[in-house]
Amino acid sequence: MFNESILVSIPLLAPCYILVKLFLDHNPFGIISGWMLTFVELHLKISKTIDQDARASPPIGDQLLVYLFIAIFGYWATDRLVPVIKMYTLKKGISGKDLCKRGTALEDKDVPEALGIVPGGIFLICITFCLVGYATSHPAKLLDCTSALLSICFMLFLGFTDDVLDWPWRYKLILPTIASLPLLCCYTGSTSIVVPIQMRSLLMRGDSLTWLGKILCYFIVVDEKANGSIINLGLWYSLYMGMLSVFCTNAINIYAGINGLEAGQSFVIACAILLHNMIEIQSQSLSTENHLFSAMIILPFIGVTLGLLKHNWFPASVFVGDTYCYFAGMTFAVVGILGHFSKTLLLFFIPQIVNFVYSIPQLFKVVPCPRHRLPRYNIETGLMEPSTFECKKGEYSWLKRHKDSTEVANMTVINLTLQILGPMSEKNLCTTLLGLQLLSCAFGFFIRYYLAQLCFDV
Ligand code: UD1
Ligand code: MG
Repeated sequence: MFNESILVSIPLLAPCYILVKLFLDHNPFGIISGWMLTFVELHLKISKTIDQDARASPPIGDQLLVYLFIAIFGYWATDRLVPVIKMYTLKKGISGKDLCKRGTALEDKDVPEALGIVPGGIFLICITFCLVGYATSHPAKLLDCTSALLSICFMLFLGFTDDVLDWPWRYKLILPTIASLPLLCCYTGSTSIVVPIQMRSLLMRGDSLTWLGKILCYFIVVDEKANGSIINLGLWYSLYMGMLSVFCTNAINIYAGINGLEAGQSFVIACAILLHNMIEIQSQSLSTENHLFSAMIILPFIGVTLGLLKHNWFPASVFVGDTYCYFAGMTFAVVGILGHFSKTLLLFFIPQIVNFVYSIPQLFKVVPCPRHRLPRYNIETGLMEPSTFECKKGEYSWLKRHKDSTEVANMTVINLTLQILGPMSEKNLCTTLLGLQLLSCAFGFFIRYYLAQLCFDV
């Protein structure tokens, strides 16, 4: 347990350092009582003349401190409730077998499934509390808040029904698109993107558009006044955001299958998002408000995810289910879209993007795709090995290491890691994959804050 606590604290260190710096000087009780008074004054109209200053937002450090308290409550409540609710899901038969324990004493044990409903439900309670305070001091953001809640609720519901009813894949693609509509409708940010310096000459030369620029103008708007440095994607940008929601929800779900991986990867990504928010808030960038909104959502998310991870870590006493995967994915999409940093968000999803691209032949049935692609447990060695699907000798030779083999490894990053690093225990495999996630998030920061300077005028 000591080792696990150290592992958990690694991704949390950097964002917490900035967080503590931001609210070190404040008295938490003063902040909470101040907020309650403001709320009562504004909504219950105890005082007839509302002081306009009361609508002014409290200092950012104060607000973050309240969200942190709510996140701690989220962790505590999830940790306490998971063991209670798992008895109910077991009783109703919502359970699964741990496929990575085949051949061991745990093979036949029913493990409660869909426990993502607990962090999801508690997250909704936490966010409702946060929103009461946030919307009071930022009334213009009320629409953003409610659409975020609606989309997350929709996905939580869809995930739970998927765990119970096992939806076919086409619904898993269509329904997140619909769930993201409230978000897209209330997105009021820019639909323009800045073109990298090196590519601007492809769009404009001197004062006129190049042939490529002219062709692009049939679909999008190339800003000639800005010398081709900005293009407005218009509706294409909305389409991209819709696809982002579908991607985030499904990407976590297909990068899964070993104890702790679904909740663990979400935890690391959420810490990276929080760190990005903290860096932007601390530097008082123009989008501080958007990052504060994102931090308000992501802090309780980290709390509830940690509470769940504790029970889902090897050997898992519960499975998170599609409920959690969809809920986590939509939460990331919400903060990326409404926080206006959807491109940076994708930088934290590098392992998921690689896993998705690598899985495409199986997802689109170019090669056979078994129901489960999670790695196989070797009872003799006690280690995990890549899982495979069967084929004839001459088939899929482009995927095989040995031409004559009648087995091909399933195309997932989990199996690829095992092929490269060799067999390892389930716990070590999960820790390795989470380490990879951490490294790729660090690489994402490198691209965002260093390489971007070389490509854009920042
Ligand atoms: C996705 C993957 C599938 C993978 C599964 C595991 C694709 C196209 N689908 O399917 O390959 O096998 O997730 O989550 O890539 N389980 C374990 N140990 C765990 C977690 C899950 O054994 O740590 C097993 C349990 O039997 C559990 C089941 O996986 O009941 C859950 O599978 P489900 O979430 O329904 O699979 P999909 O999301 O459809
Ligand atoms: Mg799943």
